[in-house]
Amino acid sequence: MVIKQLSDCDYKAKLREFIEDLFSTWKQESSFSKENICCPQRPINEIMGKVDKVDGNMSEFIVAFDEETGSIFGMLHITFDSNKSAHISLVNVSPKYRRIKVGFSLLSYSMVLSVKKGIDYIMLETWNGNNRAISLFEKFGFVKTSANENTIELKTNLPSILKEAYPNTDTLDYSILNNDVLKSISVF
Ligand SMILES: CC(C)(COP(=O)(O)OP(=O)(O)OC[C@H]1O[C@@H](n2cnc3c(N)ncnc32)[C@H](O)[C@@H]1OP(=O)(O)O)[C@@H](O)C(=O)NCCC(=O)NCCS
Repeated sequence: MVIKQLSDCDYKAKLREFIEDLFSTWKQESSFSKENICCPQRPINEIMGKVDKVDGNMSEFIVAFDEETGSIFGMLHITFDSNKSAHISLVNVSPKYRRIKVGFSLLSYSMVLSVKKGIDYIMLETWNGNNRAISLFEKFGFVKTSANENTIELKTNLPSILKEAYPNTDTLDYSILNNDVLKSISVF
């Protein structure tokens, strides 16, 4: 498995294929399922528009792919605000690739990329009862900031230990997020 940011690789066409497959074959098992009553059903064109808009500065897709075939099996979208916050959405892993740490790796990469960009905290939302995703987010120190009947909003601060641990190089090594660092995030 390789994790990359879309602006660093020539994978827009592959990501469009992944999104088309999601909408045509596993929509009900994705974040666009009927279970997700926290946001109105979003049309595929809106998601494709986000792929077109990726510039690596204000918005980015993080993708997981098979190096041999080049096919994508996981994605998330992250936007960066000028006030040092980031927002993650569209976290989706193909059903065939679940429970092998794809989601974990996408989140790890996003955390380290955010540190590199000087971000202080990350926000995201999911629907109430999406326990597998909530369990994933909690591993990265996300805690509930608000909730209503349908939606739960979570936030994590990027702790100084991660900022210090991140080496000042051009390569983005997301494996730096080892268990020791994660434990320190959890108590933040
Ligand atoms: C949620 C989702 C992204 C998890 O992706 P994944 O690659 O299967 O997750 P990982 O293998 O990286 O698992 C990491 C952690 O997530 C949690 N987790 C993932 N799947 C889980 C499940 N079925 N049940 C309980 N916990 C689960 C666990 O804490 C797990 O850690 P562990 O392996 O030490 O138990 C994936 O199930 C998915 O795409 N779901 C549909 C879309 C969705 O809900 N997106 C989030 C909307 S905001």
